[in-house]
Amino acid sequence: MSLSALERLGLSRLPNLREKARRIYKFFSNRPGSEYIASAYAIQGLMVLLDRYRPKSVLEIGAGIGTLSFAAMHMLDECRKDTKGPFAWKYFAVESDRFCLEELKKNLEPWESRFTIVDHLEESSELVKDFEFIILDGGKKDGKFFEKIPLRATLFIEGDRRPQRELLESVSRGRDYVCFNAVAFRFFKSGGYWVYKFEPMLDDRFYLGFKSLYYRSWAACKYRIKPIIKIITRTSYRCFGN
Ligand SMILES: C[S@@+](CC[C@H](N)C(=O)[O-])C[C@H]1O[C@@H](n2cnc3c(N)ncnc32)[C@H](O)[C@@H]1O
Repeated sequence: MSLSALERLGLSRLPNLREKARRIYKFFSNRPGSEYIASAYAIQGLMVLLDRYRPKSVLEIGAGIGTLSFAAMHMLDECRKDTKGPFAWKYFAVESDRFCLEELKKNLEPWESRFTIVDHLEESSELVKDFEFIILDGGKKDGKFFEKIPLRATLFIEGDRRPQRELLESVSRGRDYVCFNAVAFRFFKSGGYWVYKFEPMLDDRFYLGFKSLYYRSWAACKYRIKPIIKIITRTSYRCFGN
């Protein structure tokens, strides 16, 4: 994908992050190997966080065909536009699958010389200490990796990844962190992500604490009401459907 193709995607002209996320999702859904790509909801969530924290270094584990990497690099460039002075960033993407590696290179061509691909996860536990922002959408349970997450880092986890999160939380027991689980707002649509902020500042405590409360209330409604709606739909179908 060349730079002009990126321009044709017209992301910079779109009015908000939701539209950008949808367009990126649509574009990647039509690319080879799109079966396991991140949801539009998670793409939007990632862009919102990058806009807030404007990290200068991002490490992505399990880059796949590059949906989240594409959104992240576009966002880092956008942040640079309205930052006074230079805003350089470094981006490391970890991916081991040969097919994905090929697609990743093609899909991230507009940033060709500006990011690094690492093809061994083992190296990433040494790398992680140098990154402010970490995206996790793959890899394995690795305690050493989680132990080295640096002070005040932000961790974005696509989907649920419960085994990895449980390990993360157990190795981070002595650390100060806040987290929340964003749950998609549509009743019958899945999609979500987790955010962990280590050693948060006071404003982060408010921001992430509020988000946590907000999503917990929504999830409580969603997961209680959803089965009730299903029962009503099924019963009315049995009674009145043919
Ligand atoms: C869910 S997919 C990522 C999709 C990607 N975020 C996207 O939206 O395009 C997970 C990826 O993690 C990669 N992966 C899994 N285990 C890995 C490992 N041990 N080292 C490196 N990559 C790994 C897989 O090859 C797969 O491409």
